[in-house]
Amino acid sequence: MSSSFNIGVLLLFLFVQMVIGANPLYHFCSTNSGNFTTYSPYDQSLNKLLGNLHYKTPPNGFGMSSAGQYQAQTIGLSLCRGDVSSEVCASCFVNASTEIRKRCPNNKAATIWYDQCLLKYSSSNFFGQIDTEFKFYLLNINNVSDPTSFNLETKRLLSSLSNAAYADPRMYAAGVIDLEGSKKLYGLVQCTRDLSSGNCKTCLDNAISDLPSCCDGKEGGRVVGGSWRARFCSSGRPADILFFGWVGGKHACVDLTGVSPLVGLGSSAFTVGQAALKAVSGKVIKHEKACLDNHHVFIPFAFDTFGFLAPEAVDLLSRVQRVMHSNVMTPRSMDVVFKRLSFAIQKGVAAQLVARLPTISMYITCKHFTLYI
Ligand SMILES: *[C@@H]1O[C@H](CO)[C@@H](O)[C@H](O)[C@H]1NC(C)=O
Ligand SMILES: *[C@@H]1O[C@H](CO)[C@@H](O)[C@H](O)[C@H]1NC(C)=O
Ligand SMILES: *[C@@H]1O[C@H](CO)[C@@H](O)[C@H](O)[C@H]1NC(C)=O
Repeated sequence: MSSSFNIGVLLLFLFVQMVIGANPLYHFCSTNSGNFTTYSPYDQSLNKLLGNLHYKTPPNGFGMSSAGQYQAQTIGLSLCRGDVSSEVCASCFVNASTEIRKRCPNNKAATIWYDQCLLKYSSSNFFGQIDTEFKFYLLNINNVSDPTSFNLETKRLLSSLSNAAYADPRMYAAGVIDLEGSKKLYGLVQCTRDLSSGNCKTCLDNAISDLPSCCDGKEGGRVVGGSWRARFCSSGRPADILFFGWVGGKHACVDLTGVSPLVGLGSSAFTVGQAALKAVSGKVIKHEKACLDNHHVFIPFAFDTFGFLAPEAVDLLSRVQRVMHSNVMTPRSMDVVFKRLSFAIQKGVAAQLVARLPTISMYITCKHFTLYI
């Protein structure tokens, strides 16, 4: 298997200056499953399959389906990145299904990758199997200043995300940690949900061990295959999330920090929340100016892994809760936000915490996820 794993491996050295969201990252027309002709039964099955997936994918971010019988049977799945809304997911799926038909017009099996989604189909049943036929790498060619410790932090973050993802029903995890010099390191890992959790872990661990060969000491990198994606990137930006039109029509920069409650404890007595509060005052000094310079409101959101939330975080969540309440929630579910968040908070995975706030228009501004590929 490890030898076939290398077949079709492509190393792309891309440095994309602009976000070209509408373009695929890559596509792969497989020749293993043969060809079909236009208007043949396989062609019709494929149209039906894409229709099914179009219907199934946006609500859950994932869909799998099959269509047709015998020689005309086709099997496919589509997956949206774990942090995109169902609207973006739907738009990405439409683009992917149009584009894959243009780019691989007669291949029975094909895969197309976008920043925000993946679509693949084949005439043979691949559900549950790790896709070893094709993978690619993308990286940001900028070098980090301290590659040894950066590589170590990257591996540490991605490994902890991989452990969170394979245990999660959505098979997705994203997170952010602080690095030296007010930089942040972002990570994201995801598997297609047809895999068992064991296979998801295997793929992600393979992807993470691949990163040094493509992206050693680089500011950002991705390894992408037919069943998984793993990526990291770093930056010194002022915010992790932008809430649009949050306060008086202004956008709010929300800076997420998860800290261990024992950080900075020293010999003094333990006070609940002290580490989170200290993190807030550090953050305000560091990032508020950059945010205000952009005419945004700055909200530090600090929590510790015992579940303590700094006052600014509680204000923010209360407001989120009111918006959710007035939009969709029943009175009984008033506490839902806090309850859902506590799980993510305990895991200390800040971006997951954001991903669990479903009804708010928000946007993780990890530009380097799309900007520097
Ligand atoms: C499939 O089509 C390609 C070009 O469109 C051709 O080169 C190839 O030989 C075909 N394969 C089969 C099995 O017919
Ligand atoms: C889909 O394509 C349209 C038109 O090119 C583009 O505006 C849109 O951003 C694309 N959607 C996604 C999610 O890439
Ligand atoms: C990064 O480092 C490599 C090797 O040290 C060097 O060849 C390359 O030019 C550097 N890249 C940039 C963008 O500075």
